[in-house]
Amino acid sequence: MIILDGKKTSGAIKEEIAAAVVELKKQGKKTPHLAAVLVGNDGASMTYVGAKVKACELVGFESTLLELPDTTSEEALLHEIDNLNNNPEIDGFIIQLPLPKHIDEHKVLMAVNPEKDVDGFHPANVGKMALELPTFLPATPYGIMELLERYEVETSGKNVVVIGRSHIVGRPMSILLSQKRTAGDATVTLTHSRTKNLKEITKEADIIVAALGIAEFLTGDMVKEGVTIIDVGITRVEDASKKRGFRLAGDVHFDSVSKKASYITPVPGGVGPMTIAMLLKNTLQACQ
Ligand code: GUN
Repeated sequence: MIILDGKKTSGAIKEEIAAAVVELKKQGKKTPHLAAVLVGNDGASMTYVGAKVKACELVGFESTLLELPDTTSEEALLHEIDNLNNNPEIDGFIIQLPLPKHIDEHKVLMAVNPEKDVDGFHPANVGKMALELPTFLPATPYGIMELLERYEVETSGKNVVVIGRSHIVGRPMSILLSQKRTAGDATVTLTHSRTKNLKEITKEADIIVAALGIAEFLTGDMVKEGVTIIDVGITRVEDASKKRGFRLAGDVHFDSVSKKASYITPVPGGVGPMTIAMLLKNTLQACQ
């Protein structure tokens, strides 16, 4: 069993990005600048955004964190987005999701200038991705593709089962893996909460991408010997033995599944750090 080490791989990618930033600075060019907008004070979102800002510092980017109260109106948020769209210092920005209930997520994501949409969530960029045109790939699927590529996991002609049809992970993942590309050419089955006989489907899978958001959902009896496992889940599970009162669990029951897997991503240290590295890569691309 080989661990798909997202921490190590993302470290290598960040070093590549840092070297590119040094080169840009040497040539007197602009330093990449990422902005993140956080609305409200959801604990997990604050952690993720904090990690993104810290990663910017590490590779030599400029970063701006815009923290808005959870009472922020949709109109006020749209105004902030307009400012970021029109600020030439900012190369790319993200709106951390989820947003408070009173804000229309679609309306907000539509307001982002597609050329600064380093999350790849704007419909214009989703369309380009689906049509295999150059664009910003959403960071989590992009990170998974990169991990499969760098570990030379064979995907061509393989049965891939994606669990979860979210706009951020499951849906784009299913599209990318089916395309003619490195880490593509797979036969993809996209499963979700209405899928019948899921276990029969997962047992046939050569590669499983678990992105449904239920802690330790995928268990050893649901997979075949030699499977490759990509675990996108990261859920806080109460754990009194931990100082912070919780532990982080993936969507995969690691102990039982890893016994049968040929490759598997850990949680934490798998997909999560890759997501951040690819966000930086998109920001570098936006700047260039
Ligand atoms: N919430 C969960 N994942 C993501 C992500 O990749 N980007 C943003 N902006 N919010 C998220």
